[in-house]
Amino acid sequence: MSVIGTNIAEAKKWLEAGQVVGIPTETVYGLAGNALNLQAVTRIFETKNRPTFDPLIVHSSSIEKISHFVQEIPAAGLKLAAHFWPGPLTLLLPKTDVIPDLVTAGLDTLAVRIPAHPLTRQLLGELDFPLAAPSANPFGYISPTQAAHVQAQLGDKIPYILDGGPCTIGIESTIVGFGDGEAVIYRLGGIPVEEIEKIMGRVKIIAHSSSNPRAPGMLKSHYAPRKPLQTEGLPELLSRHAPERIGILAFQHPHHSVPAQNQFILSGSGSVTEAAQRLFAGLRYLDSLSVDVIYAELLLEKELGRAVNDRIRRAAAN
Ligand code: TXA
Ligand code: MG
Repeated sequence: MSVIGTNIAEAKKWLEAGQVVGIPTETVYGLAGNALNLQAVTRIFETKNRPTFDPLIVHSSSIEKISHFVQEIPAAGLKLAAHFWPGPLTLLLPKTDVIPDLVTAGLDTLAVRIPAHPLTRQLLGELDFPLAAPSANPFGYISPTQAAHVQAQLGDKIPYILDGGPCTIGIESTIVGFGDGEAVIYRLGGIPVEEIEKIMGRVKIIAHSSSNPRAPGMLKSHYAPRKPLQTEGLPELLSRHAPERIGILAFQHPHHSVPAQNQFILSGSGSVTEAAQRLFAGLRYLDSLSVDVIYAELLLEKELGRAVNDRIRRAAAN
């Protein structure tokens, strides 16, 4: 089992030795390794059983450092960075040779982000290399938002998990790329489209495809529990299964037709922010129950609700 702790020097020691460790970010926990060390990057892919065609996000503590890894940051990117970094925003930028091709799966763009979590920011500030870090879950499974989630699934494979408490955002970063200098959203995430559009004007979203080669992590089936999950047809489910065999992910109010302990309420007060924070913990909880099927309610299709719905739909597509 991994050691779980808050010791930055310990995390640093393992990372400098080419090992991978769990790190907290405000979005989800990452499985981090030295992005400039091929052996460490290989370990990341192996540890989470991730196909090497799916590129990694590189985390750094400053734009100054990032400037060594990318050829340029277009004006639109600088504008977004100024507003949202540190934070749940990832930019796709043309890479330099400093970054191994394995990190980007051979693509000529690099996904980079400056995360906001104080522990990880401090860690990044003390390292003289950036950290490649995908979400710290086995490929295709639900992302971790607590150190215990990382321990449960990868604990036998990594030496250390830096514990930063529960993630405050709870869903992955918004990924933005640039075509002819114009911002394009490739993954809905912790920064709502509306917030980006306040700054950039209308932006294109190319995050719906089931086979989008620009972002393989956007594969339609992803973030998925092991139990089948559906977002429609609760009455029909109730006619086919005993109520005890159904789990429900509810936004605000429980359903009377299913036992209370089979239900996970995302936010009793109806807060979309809280719903996003608790989404992956809720899916994990329901997946751990002895139920045959999970029914998940969708949120209103706006603000963070869009990213939450995106994750729920991908979980349903399994
Ligand atoms: O919030 C996050 O972004 C978290 C934390 C740990 O930072 N990380 C994360 O990483 O969600 P991961 O590996 O689970 O998802 C990264 C996504 C994948 O969908 C991948 O295909 C896409 O980013 N990606 C990475 N590099 C890319 C590139 N050069 N072009 C297009 N998509 C890229
Ligand atoms: Mg992931």
